[in-house]
Amino acid sequence: MKVYKPPMGWNTWNTFARNIDEKLVMESADKLVETGLAECGYNYIVIDDCWALKQRDENGKLVPDPEKFPSGMKHLSDYIHSKGLKFGMYSCCGTLTCAGYPGSYQHEFDDAKSFADWGVDLLKYDYCFRPTTIPPEILYRRMSIALKNCGRDILFSACSCGFDDTREWIGTTGSHMWRTTDDIYDSWESLKKLSKVGLENAKYGGISRFADMDMLIVGMYGKGNVGLGGCTFEEYKTHFSLWALLNSPLMIGCDIRNMDEDTKKILMNKEVIAINQDEESNVPFDARIINSPYDDDIFVYAKMLSNGDYAIGFFNFTDEKTNEWQTHFTLEKLGLDEATGKTLLMKELWTGETERVENGIVRFKLEPHTCKLYRASVIDK
Ligand code: GLA
Repeated sequence: MKVYKPPMGWNTWNTFARNIDEKLVMESADKLVETGLAECGYNYIVIDDCWALKQRDENGKLVPDPEKFPSGMKHLSDYIHSKGLKFGMYSCCGTLTCAGYPGSYQHEFDDAKSFADWGVDLLKYDYCFRPTTIPPEILYRRMSIALKNCGRDILFSACSCGFDDTREWIGTTGSHMWRTTDDIYDSWESLKKLSKVGLENAKYGGISRFADMDMLIVGMYGKGNVGLGGCTFEEYKTHFSLWALLNSPLMIGCDIRNMDEDTKKILMNKEVIAINQDEESNVPFDARIINSPYDDDIFVYAKMLSNGDYAIGFFNFTDEKTNEWQTHFTLEKLGLDEATGKTLLMKELWTGETERVENGIVRFKLEPHTCKLYRASVIDK
């Protein structure tokens, strides 16, 4: 059986949108390896929208823009593969892509064949300009079955942005990851909005079918296509921690040719990545016993890990410091009640600090916009 973990990599869209070419893609592939990002697990290089000519050729095939990609897609994919990386591309279930390039509607099998010929390993599949007379699940099944029959393993990344109750039908489409919301922007408000929706959708994910909270904005600092005001280091850390805990794919969106040390520190925290890449992809659950009605933007979620540990994350998306009851969890909620004789030894994955849980409960105050993310192992009391 083919089992995927949340896909990790880099995608052109957040920073570059239509300003893409083979030089950028090759340089980014080089950087993914040189910086050590690839070694951390980021192994997909994904070209998003705006790579094609506006017209198909006389045989109805998609044509890569020769000005942007003069050596062609096979050459580019060979280059990416030679670095030990994987190659992702983009299309759409409608007549046009979101940026107005040809979509795959009624060309699904031909386009899947082109992607296979080009050595593609992942296809992101968008939701614009679609014929509304056809149910969306059918449009996604079309491309999915085409990919599964194209002669190459191609990971199918559905991007219907949570619209039309995506979570109710996406499991029938054979997709491996699926977007829960419309687009992310590089601002705290955007993170806050996407986080809530991500939490609502986490339980609809599972092994090889990951709820995709959209590409990361870590390290963008307001620059590029989706750059708005930008976020602070602490805010990017909160963002990355939540995406990791909720099994979201981790697709970098900043310019990895120019990352500062803070950005590397976040993206390359191997212990946080291990929480995301855990083999069982278990569903995270609310670890608090009581929730105050006023703490809509405060979350404490735990996820069981395959080696018998727990990942536990505390998130404060409000502008106030939390009180201790807003940021607490109990051992009982984790299946470790008094009678088990067990407790937890917790390690915070950003500071390395450890603490032992006494009296069955952990409570503390959390600064605004910050988080704490722990790996906790079960020990005797
Ligand atoms: C949609 C998607 C984005 C990006 C653009 C490209 O908005 O949600 O992630 O792929 O299309 O046009």
